[in-house]
Amino acid sequence: MSPAPFHLECIACARRHGADPPGFACEACGSLLTVVYEPGAFRESARPKGWSGQATGVWRYRGALPVATEAAAVTLAEGNTRLHRCPRLGEKLGLDGLHVKTEGDNPTGSFKDRGMTVGVTKAVERGARTVLCASTGNTSASLAAYAARAGLRAVVLIPAGQIAFGKLAQAVVHGARVVQLRGNFDEGLALAIRLAAERKDLYLLNSINPYRLEGQKTLAYELYEQLGQRAPDVVIAPVGNAGNLSAIWKGFQELAALGLIGRLPRLVGVQAECAAPVVAAWKAGRDRPEPWPRPETLATAIRIGAPVCGVKVLRALRDSGGSALAVSDAEIVEAQRRLARTEGLFIEPGSAAAIAGLSRLAAEAALPRDATIVCVATGAGLKDPDTAIKHGDPPVEADATMQALERLLIDDF
Ligand code: F0G
Repeated sequence: MSPAPFHLECIACARRHGADPPGFACEACGSLLTVVYEPGAFRESARPKGWSGQATGVWRYRGALPVATEAAAVTLAEGNTRLHRCPRLGEKLGLDGLHVKTEGDNPTGSFKDRGMTVGVTKAVERGARTVLCASTGNTSASLAAYAARAGLRAVVLIPAGQIAFGKLAQAVVHGARVVQLRGNFDEGLALAIRLAAERKDLYLLNSINPYRLEGQKTLAYELYEQLGQRAPDVVIAPVGNAGNLSAIWKGFQELAALGLIGRLPRLVGVQAECAAPVVAAWKAGRDRPEPWPRPETLATAIRIGAPVCGVKVLRALRDSGGSALAVSDAEIVEAQRRLARTEGLFIEPGSAAAIAGLSRLAAEAALPRDATIVCVATGAGLKDPDTAIKHGDPPVEADATMQALERLLIDDF
């Protein structure tokens, strides 16, 4: 299935750009770009009969992706993640239609793989030899893996001592050049953007790159199929750099444009309360976030003060009739534990922010009981075992004897 002809377009002034504008910023006004398809051709290429019977995951929706048909996808079989009904947690919260989509099922354990399979395929198409990103951990893990798969070099900039250990291990084992910056993620991203602008040999794969977001939008297509050809009523997701929820919204908008859904979901973006520039902008009715110089949260994945896709996500929240809220670290830890104990799903703290937001909204009776709700659990729990152990009940020790074990079990129960 050939993809529809597309161009990049500025989200602010609608100026059209070629496929490879320097720095992925509008040449006229500096705003973000998005991929726009030629509508007639898009309806042909992207509608369900074009969804290959065999392919699963991201490339099932190839006709809705900006990749030349002959391009060999750089893939690790990403997407096609599980959608779990969560009746036990739902019952506690007074919700009958609660679902959690575990994006940790992806090859490197986070939703980033959806974007990287498309982004790295574009990098190869463009003849890049080296790919670059700044990251709070998951992007670097994913980029390192996909670069290895494609035979490219990867350079990743991470804030020193501030990313979860599992993510660091991934970037290291896949052979990326891992640079630990004495600074935070926002400083790293600003440097990555400048580096990519100055050095044409570096292909930038942060979410300012609109091709990466095209891969991430497939989560909406997948939900549509998993829910039996319909959209959920509410989608709740954590927000950091703000690319993912923007991408998910684009997916739903496309499904509506294809005539597949009549009603779009309400989006809810959740941030940690000491790293909440999007929530602050939302509450103040602004259309772009003010940067927070020193964001803080134990959910290191979303410890971000200057979200590069902030304008996109604020627009998505508004257009969807949704909302944004901030939760405390204590609520995040409690939500992680609660989901793990009621439903058997272990997700990382950044993802648990979505569950914490859900719990808050449920407590405020802000969600209808019969609504179909999907929480996007963006990353796997084993990415960050340290936080889980630090905040969990400590294991008990016992002598290796029957007597000791029996005493322990009697005492315990
Ligand atoms: N959840 C997890 C587990 C993440 O790793 C991220 C972002 C987000 C949510 C937020 O998504 O940035 O699209 O709003 N992680 C990035 C990284 C920033 O470098 O891994 P977003």
